[in-house]
Amino acid sequence: MNGWIRVCATSELLPGEFQVAFDGDTAIAVFNIDGELYAIEDVCTHDGGELAGGPIEGFSVECPRHGAKFDVRTGEALCAPAYLPTAKFPVAVDADAVWTRDDR
Ligand code: FES
Repeated sequence: MNGWIRVCATSELLPGEFQVAFDGDTAIAVFNIDGELYAIEDVCTHDGGELAGGPIEGFSVECPRHGAKFDVRTGEALCAPAYLPTAKFPVAVDADAVWTRDDR
């Protein structure tokens, strides 16, 4: 997994849970939604809030600061006050661990 960042063991990211890892200065939030893993930048495009820890409903995570929602599958902003997407990153499972990277 050269160039990838180890997030955690797979056993530490069960359905309904999230983890945050850093690739350099980039905070990446990885979500397990019903057994599928999704990684987006842990930054709300409204005013920089951290998305990890916000309420999750279906495939959306709500920013705890002012309520913008983002699709964890695509990074798309789903409602005001955010209009721009947050970045989406690749996620992989290898050697019983979860991996991601900032591929921009
Ligand atoms: S910082 Fe996320 S909604 Fe304002």
